[in-house]
Amino acid sequence: MTTSDLDTLEQGLLADIAGVTSLDALEQVRIAALGKKGRIPELMQTLGKLPPDERKAFGQAVNAVKTRVSEALDTHKSRLEAAALEQRLATERADITLPVRSGPEAEGRIHPVSQVMEELAEIFADMGFAIAEGPDIETDDYNFTKLNIPAEHPSRQDHDTFYFAPNEAGERLVLRTHTSPVQIRTMLRQKPPIRIIAPGRVYRCDSDQTHTPMFHQIEALVIDEHTHMGHLKWTIEEMCRAFFETDVKMRLRASYFPFTEPSAEIDIAADVIGKPGKWLEIGGCGMVHPNVLKNCGIDPEKYQGFAFGMGIDRMAMLKYGIPDLRAFFNADLRWLKHYGFSVLDVPGLSAGLSS
Ligand code: PHE
Repeated sequence: MTTSDLDTLEQGLLADIAGVTSLDALEQVRIAALGKKGRIPELMQTLGKLPPDERKAFGQAVNAVKTRVSEALDTHKSRLEAAALEQRLATERADITLPVRSGPEAEGRIHPVSQVMEELAEIFADMGFAIAEGPDIETDDYNFTKLNIPAEHPSRQDHDTFYFAPNEAGERLVLRTHTSPVQIRTMLRQKPPIRIIAPGRVYRCDSDQTHTPMFHQIEALVIDEHTHMGHLKWTIEEMCRAFFETDVKMRLRASYFPFTEPSAEIDIAADVIGKPGKWLEIGGCGMVHPNVLKNCGIDPEKYQGFAFGMGIDRMAMLKYGIPDLRAFFNADLRWLKHYGFSVLDVPGLSAGLSS
């Protein structure tokens, strides 16, 4: 091979390099030129066949070609890599002004009953009420007897009670028919002054469009030395105003409960649901009956107080315009998506109860 052949080889290789447009193709060119069986190593192997006086010069010439071809390969490789990066940057551009894509956790919804419980807890916490709890499975004594409803009392028939079979002691447990037994539990445990609310599940053997066998109530109990009906009325009025987030007309209608005296039904003006002139019953209330205080070891000569109980499901239906109570418990995700609340919209008096 002559020096001019070497020149031609070099020009050829450099042209190949310059001509490729992908890193893969460039690698093929590199292997063909510098790989074990490539053109340049092949030439090196022919060195031995040259006359000794030509070897050195030819060897140097081939090495020089090898260096230049290597450099050309490196340069072109950097160029191709830079171009590939350019292209990725152009196609993979992130637009940080786009809204955040919501993940599966954003699909979850708070049930209207939970939402209303939270809202009411917030309202009553602001008035200084603590939250009390009791079990769903209650003794007959706490659900009825200590609430001044003795065994043969006719008002037991008003509650369509789910009874358990009597235990060895002959005691019949019940699914609590109202949250009022939490009044008893609280008064047995704690001396006045008392200011609690008790939200929770209650059960009655009843089912139609406005009644389900399980529903929710919230009970309030205040016991102190000078508590009177005026406090009761103000508390309910204030609660309604805060809960419905507008002025609500409310009235107390004389009624009867064995555990309160006097007793009243709580009605609110149906303007809140766009039916002016009508009244809606939301619960019962009254001054705690002296017998109930006595049953809990509280001196009715010294202490008095009020209690009220309201249907939470009903409050939710009224506030959020939900027509059918039974849908509350169907676990239909489409319903929940429509009527449910975002996990992040935590009710608060400063930020607004509902959004
Ligand atoms: N417990 C009654 C009911 O379920 C409501 C009520 C509670 C009435 C407290 C008066 C006082 O109907």
